[in-house]
Amino acid sequence: METGTFDKTQQDIYLFKEILRSRKSCRGFLETPVPDKMITSVLEDAALAPSNCNTQPWETHIVSGKKLKELSDVLLKENNAHRFSPDFSFDTEEYQGRYQERYFNLASINYEAYGVKREDREGRKEISDQNYKFFNAPHIAIPFMPSFGDNVRVGGDIGMYGQTFLLSLTAHGLAGIPQTALGFFAGTIREILNVPAELKMLFGISFGYADLNSPGNSYKLGRDPISSNVIFHQ
Ligand SMILES: Cc1cc2nc3c(=O)[nH]c(=O)nc-3n(C[C@H](O)[C@H](O)[C@H](O)COP(=O)(O)O)c2cc1C
Repeated sequence: METGTFDKTQQDIYLFKEILRSRKSCRGFLETPVPDKMITSVLEDAALAPSNCNTQPWETHIVSGKKLKELSDVLLKENNAHRFSPDFSFDTEEYQGRYQERYFNLASINYEAYGVKREDREGRKEISDQNYKFFNAPHIAIPFMPSFGDNVRVGGDIGMYGQTFLLSLTAHGLAGIPQTALGFFAGTIREILNVPAELKMLFGISFGYADLNSPGNSYKLGRDPISSNVIFHQ
């Protein structure tokens, strides 16, 4: 493998590839809290994410301890009552063809890990409720964003921020999971955290130390080869 510019060594490249490949969505955390210094270090990394015109359109709220428990209780209640308050629509029915296949594949691998059959509605609900228990994580991060136009570009910026946050967690020996499920209750979360209505929410990230014995962490999802999704032009 050739190195590029900026005096990067083979070791740098392998280290990056190792971190990238060891990141995965964590669906089971230990209760152990993450030291404040480490959270700050991850937040400093995440803030290096690129953004349109360097607007840095994020205001991140970190929720832990009693406040996290309060949030979990409210979200579980709101979810049971189907009182959704999303800022942005989300409809999995829109996934067709290969996108639908991948979506179904993830769902079936996840149910299988917990020993839950597709027709077991209660079992499936229990798994989905894990989102609102933050998979037992001691912390969540919510990158709120201002609203600009149709929000597509700012949403892209928040995505870059989120991935930088997740990779930094991995580099620190931590784990995380981005959760659109939390975004279904953006209005409720804003109310509880006292966030102004102008700031919108796409997803939250539960994070902490992975519980390697959790069924939700017993699998790793693959990716299609780049030959199926890259087209070269010359
Ligand atoms: C923006 C975003 C939102 C997501 N929301 C959820 C969610 O609400 N609940 C969940 O269990 N996983 C969620 N995921 C995790 C995806 O299922 C996961 O990234 C995907 O299956 C690929 O697996 P990997 O992250 O382990 O590589 C989300 C991922 C992204 C990028």
